[in-house]
Amino acid sequence: MFSVFHPAGGVLLAALGLLVPRLSFASLSVPDIPHIAGYFGTKTRYEEVNPHLLRDPLSADPSVLRPPPAEHCSPVHLTAVIRHGSRYPTLKNIRRIRKLSELVRTEASRASGGSEGWLQDIRNSWEAWYTEDMDGQLVTKGWDDLRQLASRLASVFPSLLSEENVRKKRVRFLTSSKHRCVSSVEAFQEGLQRRWGRHDAEPEYSHKVDDELMRFFDRCRGYVEGVENNRTALLEVEKFKHGEEMEGVRRRMADRLGLPHHRLTPDLVEAAFFLCSYELAIKNVHSPWCFLFDESDSKVLEYKSDLKQYWKRSHGHEINSLSSCPLFHHVFRTLDRAGRPRRSTEASPEPASILVGHAETLLPLLSLLGLFKDQTPPTATNYDSQHGRRFRTSRIVPYAANLLFVLYDCQRGPRLQLLVNESPVRFPGLEAEDAPLYRDVRATYRHLLDGCDFHRECEGGRRAERLTRSSERDRAQ
Ligand SMILES: *[C@@H]1O[C@H](CO)[C@@H](O)[C@H](O)[C@H]1NC(C)=O
Repeated sequence: MFSVFHPAGGVLLAALGLLVPRLSFASLSVPDIPHIAGYFGTKTRYEEVNPHLLRDPLSADPSVLRPPPAEHCSPVHLTAVIRHGSRYPTLKNIRRIRKLSELVRTEASRASGGSEGWLQDIRNSWEAWYTEDMDGQLVTKGWDDLRQLASRLASVFPSLLSEENVRKKRVRFLTSSKHRCVSSVEAFQEGLQRRWGRHDAEPEYSHKVDDELMRFFDRCRGYVEGVENNRTALLEVEKFKHGEEMEGVRRRMADRLGLPHHRLTPDLVEAAFFLCSYELAIKNVHSPWCFLFDESDSKVLEYKSDLKQYWKRSHGHEINSLSSCPLFHHVFRTLDRAGRPRRSTEASPEPASILVGHAETLLPLLSLLGLFKDQTPPTATNYDSQHGRRFRTSRIVPYAANLLFVLYDCQRGPRLQLLVNESPVRFPGLEAEDAPLYRDVRATYRHLLDGCDFHRECEGGRRAERLTRSSERDRAQ
């Protein structure tokens, strides 16, 4: 293992000094966090978004629930859409990591950067320990992410995520079929069971796989053809990848390594950045690879990831968000049922629904709801004006990211509140309150509730409409 102490560490500790008031002394003696840890996009740790969890991963804050106090509200339903926890790199990145470490080992110059401690660490003691079979699987830390999230949600919603509700199978658990998601939904259930003191018992899992809901993006032909496999649709990303900001990062990284500039491709630059992120998220170490980037380099690389997510999964193209219509309708049907007035003899509504998927599941749904939308779209050429943007994937979809719909029973009728990563977020168009009346939320999304037809949006749009109309004409004749 490489040393955690190196010359550049002094600068880092000074930077960390700014954070001292937020951290207890005990946690400061644990690992030092790379100063670039908050810029890893979808590879950001959940703790970077909620740093108090570094001190106490189970601390939950019920004050985030904010229905109007005068209305004596109580939560009656929780739908949580959750991204899987920290994971290994996928195959593509494992291969890039291997290529990068080979290149640095064989070609990085001893002359120019050779005296740097971190470069010696990379050359002498860092091992490319990633193997292809790890391909995207949930890591131990990822199990913790979901166990701890479950425990916190159970403290905030004790009446919904109660032992009895889970034991009687009133809580629904759905997951994407991907290994990391199935492991995550299991970890969530373990987190609940441990909370109830069932450490020794064999954990009991009960969940259904549903890719139609959690991997809708694979099934939407209009999306796959129009965006995912369409280079033109992602042109801004390609342009930025070879633009002046990325060139600068590449040049500086090559200089730090003493490599000829042409030996580094933008993909290898990104591989080094991701290596820093993986070693922190998986092993909780400050990797020597992190010293290849300063904060401004990291902001450029974060922007590159954000551009990709924006055009591929979010507001960039309308079909990105429309592909999530099945999930949108599922959530609102569940809320409708839970909020319906009922006689005392009727069965109580489903208290909670836990849906586990991907960043690619959450981003389209958040976009469909109109969240994190800036006035000016990010492009390859407006990096300088985008520093204050709302669309920052490091903040929105870190590992274990979650979107919570909380339905309350209140004197004036049901109310709905949204939380993203356990912090309140207001509905676009209803910004006056944290938890507006449910009927007002429905009115805001009326156009989607009455439309947002997956088949029409995904299976060829107007062509399909024409076919429907002509078949109606046929029937009429
Ligand atoms: C590819 O994307 C461009 C730009 O968004 C769009 O104009 C074009 O129709 C798309 N091509 C296909 C095959 O959908």
